[in-house]
Amino acid sequence: MGDLARFDRFADFLVSEFPDATRVWDIAGGMGKLNAALTARGRHALTFDARAKHLPVPFAERLLTLDEPCTADLVVGLHPDGATRIIVEYAARHRLPFAVVPCCSDNSMPYKPWLRHIGAIAVQAGFVVREAELKMSGRSRVVVGKWV
Ligand SMILES: C[S@@+](CC[C@H](N)C(=O)[O-])C[C@H]1O[C@@H](n2cnc3c(N)ncnc32)[C@H](O)[C@@H]1O
Repeated sequence: MGDLARFDRFADFLVSEFPDATRVWDIAGGMGKLNAALTARGRHALTFDARAKHLPVPFAERLLTLDEPCTADLVVGLHPDGATRIIVEYAARHRLPFAVVPCCSDNSMPYKPWLRHIGAIAVQAGFVVREAELKMSGRSRVVVGKWV
């Protein structure tokens, strides 16, 4: 069980970092708790995750793929595990900003190399990348990608 404050900490970060992004896609959102935190902050959030049991929030019960038609202003993932890379790739394809809080890698990389790897993929795709820190326990580094 991760830090239960993570949903509010990340939602606060996103609202502050992307004040103009109203349509936020929460990829690998699990139960939809980040969605609820974003909704409470006035954002239109849509969660993608392949689970039938979740909070009563806007929820696409499927995995995100690169073929998904885009209606988002911003794509995010909180501990998105195997979806981390596709968030960056999807954002690049649609020239959207992204923010991810990486946790486990999709290729057995340890945490810190995985963080650097995700940043490097984003730089390679043309994003301007920075990292930030959320005030929470556990894996708390945010990788942010924007276009200039
Ligand atoms: C560690 S859980 C995190 C859930 C939630 N964000 C949280 O912080 O509690 C990782 C989730 O990623 C989902 N997932 C993995 N690949 C995905 C993809 N391509 N699209 C959507 N969800 C994905 C899994 O189903 C799982 O629920």
